[in-house]
Amino acid sequence: MFAQRIQHLTSSIIREILASAQKPNVISFAGGLPAEGSFPDIDWSVLPNKVRQYGMSEGEPELREAIAAEARQKGISCDASQVLILSGSQQGLDLVSKLFIDPDSNVLVESPTYLAALQCFNLFQANCRGVNLSSQGPDIANFEHQIRDYKPRFTYLIPSFQNPSGTCYTPESRQAVAALLDQYNLPLIEDEPYCELDYDNLAKPPICSFMKTAPWIYFGSFSKVLIPGLRIGYLIAHPDLITPLVRLKQASDLHTNRPGQWLALEYMNSADKPQRLERLREFYRVRRDAFAAALESEFADLAEWQIPSGGLFFWLKLKKTVDTRPLLKIALEAGVAFMPGEAFFAEENPPHGYIRLNFSHTEPELMVEGLRRLRKVLLESDNA
Ligand SMILES: Cc1ncc(COP(=O)(O)O)c(C=O)c1O
Repeated sequence: MFAQRIQHLTSSIIREILASAQKPNVISFAGGLPAEGSFPDIDWSVLPNKVRQYGMSEGEPELREAIAAEARQKGISCDASQVLILSGSQQGLDLVSKLFIDPDSNVLVESPTYLAALQCFNLFQANCRGVNLSSQGPDIANFEHQIRDYKPRFTYLIPSFQNPSGTCYTPESRQAVAALLDQYNLPLIEDEPYCELDYDNLAKPPICSFMKTAPWIYFGSFSKVLIPGLRIGYLIAHPDLITPLVRLKQASDLHTNRPGQWLALEYMNSADKPQRLERLREFYRVRRDAFAAALESEFADLAEWQIPSGGLFFWLKLKKTVDTRPLLKIALEAGVAFMPGEAFFAEENPPHGYIRLNFSHTEPELMVEGLRRLRKVLLESDNA
């Protein structure tokens, strides 16, 4: 009855967990939720009448202009005609899948990578191949080897405060990746939802800003800096790619919701945007530091980790290489949620012994208690 691709439609472990993790007695380090305390108040009564009408598939012209201007400041050579407003940057994953993936196409992703990207590429029957990632960025020799072996349709990378590992590529690594992609004319999908959540002021030039010949698509999002429920993201595409992407967007949902775009533009134009962003960074920096201290007191003998310079996650390598998936159910019963690391790997037999912990959504007072519950689960489980 259903299309063949539906066999490849896996359920997202994240969504299932978010449901149980919302119980009042559960301390959740699972989802990538921004803190509700960071959301601005909205006065919808001043919403202009015109944005209640249908709009353009590309998005609101002023918002596209503002996004292009900001991107140029980051070094991306572009104009507003290359910007497409999306229903969350997640929609960009759907559109690029439709643009590039045939059954059995190869796609290169980081190992580990964003699990909802894997879910989307797999639905379109791609073979996702993982490129090794170090704390500086991808292993270039391994990357090149895989480009030669698999002839992928594109590569999908999250260079700044990567989900799940927190890795931020160095500028040198970004340059090296750009040169490699140009050399093989391999299209880049550069996904940057965490770029602004930078707590240590790292240099983060976009990879696409170094690219001279290969096609690229850059994704950005208002979810982490404004309100995720608005579902406003965008892509900026190489001129050769924007027309089919706009048509795919039109076929998919006509256009992104206009009230949300209006609010995103208000944010972009607000005189105090730099101060708002700095307040947000400070809010999360405090949480990051509180979580690092809680980990140090509760997990020092159980795991290793790097303190992330941005984003929303700690990525832990457990000292015992256990399959963390069966532990999730036990942890939820014990009142704590986490993300099993296996979910973030493209391989059918993923490596064991990793977990992702979100630090942005839990009040600092509850962090130690949550980690104590998780510690107990790890220590008491048979296979830990
Ligand atoms: C790497 C990555 N890409 C995309 C998204 C989706 O973001 P949006 O809310 O803009 O759809 C997320 C959300 O957590 C993410 O971590």
